[in-house]
Order: sequence, then C-alpha cells, then structure tokens
Amino acid sequence: MNLTVIDHPLTRHYLTVLRDRRTTSEQFRAASRRLTYTLIHEATARAPLHQIDIETPLEPAVGYRMPGVVAIAVLRAGLGMLDAVIDLIPNVKVGFAGLQRDEETALPMEYYFRLPDLSGSVVLILEPMLATGGSLSWAVAKAKSNGAREITTLCVVAAPEGVRRMYQDHPDVRIVAAALDRELNSQFYIQPGLGDMGDRLFGTL
Ligand code: URA
Repeated sequence: MNLTVIDHPLTRHYLTVLRDRRTTSEQFRAASRRLTYTLIHEATARAPLHQIDIETPLEPAVGYRMPGVVAIAVLRAGLGMLDAVIDLIPNVKVGFAGLQRDEETALPMEYYFRLPDLSGSVVLILEPMLATGGSLSWAVAKAKSNGAREITTLCVVAAPEGVRRMYQDHPDVRIVAAALDRELNSQFYIQPGLGDMGDRLFGTL
C-alpha cells in the first residue's frame, strides 16, 4: 500500500482543529495551511536534489537545490493546501484540476483543467479529501498523460475506499495523508471526517 499517514503531534493537533465542528472558516483556513506544512516534508522527502558548489564565508562547500516542483490543486478544496506549498517552495508552478458531477447524468464532468509544463518536475497533487478516489484518479491520469512521472498526492483525510481505488488505478503514486478514516457514508462523505472541506474553507455552508 502506497500510503503514508503522518502522525506528528502538530499534524494531529491541526487535524483536530479541522475536524471540530465549532472551528470557524478563518480558523479552518489557517489550520489547513499549517497542517499542509507538516505533510510537505514527507511528500518531498524523496525529491532528487541537484548537487551544487557554493562558498560559505569560510570555504567552498557542497550544497543542494530542490528540483522543479509542480503542484496541482484539485478544485476547489485543494486550494486550501496551496498557500503552504507556495510558501515552502516559492518557485513552484501551479496547475488546477476541476471535476464536477453532471446534474443530469450523474457522471463526472471535467470543467477546468490547466497544467504548466511538467517535464522533469516532481508533481504534488493536492486533494484534501480522498473519498471514492474518482477525482484523484482522474487528476493523476491527466497528469500522467501530460508527462508526469514522479507523483505524490497530499491528502488531509483518506477513506479506505479511496486508497483502494488509487492502489488499483495508480499503484505507483504515493499518498501522504494526515489520517486514514473509517469509511464513507451513503452520501460519500468520509467518517468521522471533517465535513465538506470546500464549504468549510470558503464559508459556503
Ligand atoms: N469531500 C469532502 O469535502 N468531504 C468528504 O467527506 C468527502 C469528500
């Protein structure tokens, strides 16, 4: 299973803030950003560094530089993780992936997809709620067809159903999450979860 659950105390603290129904939108956004910092360390832990020569004030030394990184935010909840990525990796290039359910056919429908050049980049896909895995699997397939090779997904909460779907469709893709929850309910919400991430981020409850 390609899932890493981060159990760092800061991750658990901010996840608790996100889960708590009393958390306001302002607190929710801040907690989402802070929790994402704790996921980025693990998500980038295998990034192939470029070795460079530098000089300290005292003598020559060997240094390292991050490779190019592309973050793809799955709309709209993925936007709640983006600020943390931009803060830690300021030269990150950003793509967006939007999928919604067609009201008439109930089939998933792409409404927005835009990627920068992915060649040679480490790709991070921001999908906070890994529920059925349908949107994430679609975003990964699109990224792969645009040339992505090293893909890691960052999730706040994952459901077993979504993790299984990802393992079936994309066994090569790593998932870094703050929690693996119990199950999906009949409405496809993760339980215990944190509710609708997009609504809580953007106050559209
Ligand atoms: N999307 C959400 O925002 N919450 C869930 O529980 C599942 C999908």
